[in-house]
Amino acid sequence: MAIPQVKLHPEGPTVSQLIFGTWRLANSNGFEADSSLATPESVLERIEACLELGITTFDLADIYGGRRRWPVIGYAYEELFGKALALNPELRKKMQLITKTGIKIPNEMWSEKVYVNHYDTSYDYVRSQVERSLRLLGTDHLDVVLIHRLDYLLDADETAKVMTDLRNEGKVKYWGVSNHTYTQVELLQSRLDFPLVTNQIEFSPSCLTGMDDGTLDQCQRLRMSPMCWSPLGGGSLFKKDVSNDPKTERLQKALRKVANDFGNDTTLDQAAYSFLLRHPSKPVIVLGTNKIDRLKGAAAIYDKKMNLDRQQFYLIWEASKGHSVP
Ligand SMILES: NC(=O)c1ccc[n+]([C@@H]2O[C@H](COP(=O)([O-])OP(=O)(O)OC[C@H]3O[C@@H](n4cnc5c(N)ncnc54)[C@H](OP(=O)(O)O)[C@@H]3O)[C@@H](O)[C@H]2O)c1
Repeated sequence: MAIPQVKLHPEGPTVSQLIFGTWRLANSNGFEADSSLATPESVLERIEACLELGITTFDLADIYGGRRRWPVIGYAYEELFGKALALNPELRKKMQLITKTGIKIPNEMWSEKVYVNHYDTSYDYVRSQVERSLRLLGTDHLDVVLIHRLDYLLDADETAKVMTDLRNEGKVKYWGVSNHTYTQVELLQSRLDFPLVTNQIEFSPSCLTGMDDGTLDQCQRLRMSPMCWSPLGGGSLFKKDVSNDPKTERLQKALRKVANDFGNDTTLDQAAYSFLLRHPSKPVIVLGTNKIDRLKGAAAIYDKKMNLDRQQFYLIWEASKGHSVP
């Protein structure tokens, strides 16, 4: 069964329900580069495998590319992804590209001295970074751009202006946010004549914050599908030694039980993805694996018809919280 194509928002783009994430595009731990993953050919192989599976949407960010550790200090993966696409430019027509901007960290590419990690959602910065993304990815438009983090100095009028201008110029088809509180979504939305189409948040069996702080309620209210990042807790769900980590131990047990309900060959990651998809805000999932077999495993949840019932959902919820519902 094919991976569903879904609307992120009634007035938004159609994306694949499973999305390929690129934070680890050339590394598996989020930081240090792995030379076997760092070539355009290797990236192209993963892009082609995704498209074959029906994963047509790719999640990028201007800042991705290793962080804070020499020799790669951010901002490298859009270029790598763009070089992979340049090997087969026809593929661009078959995919949706989502990128993010708004985080600024020290890097030699800046013309001025940047000495502290900070957020920047000013008109000039957002415009120049979006234009950089277009250039590096070799495309004339981005399907969705997200404001990456909640900028404490957000001037909603100024940021809305650059978002509107870039949309009117056809460079960005749709806008969304990431890691925003529901009040910041409302603030930014109040200055826009078009809807924000998503809030990309951390949501996994080990991180249920969005269910408690109003973020997912807002997504449901606005019919804006959340994008779930680190859906497997960044891989922590597979920790081998859980003797000092009772939460992960509980989660592994609950996920194993739910997985077994769908057959003994069902894996923990399949149970975790199905848990997220059970939420009524209609999430889409940003996958973090670089392994083609694991991408295939994720796609297989649709063949297995893994629609969790309420008890299966709450078993995982209980394991995450460490207590039953009151
Ligand atoms: N908006 C934001 O602020 C934000 C923040 C973080 C991430 N993101 C987005 O979300 C995407 C996904 O995040 P993530 O990479 O943290 O996702 P994740 O799926 O939670 O974690 C991926 C990690 O888990 C490992 N893994 C996957 N399946 C496994 C298994 N069965 N057994 C053992 N290890 C396994 C992967 O290694 P292998 O590659 O070896 O499978 C990889 O190291 C990112 O690429 C990025 O696009 C966004």
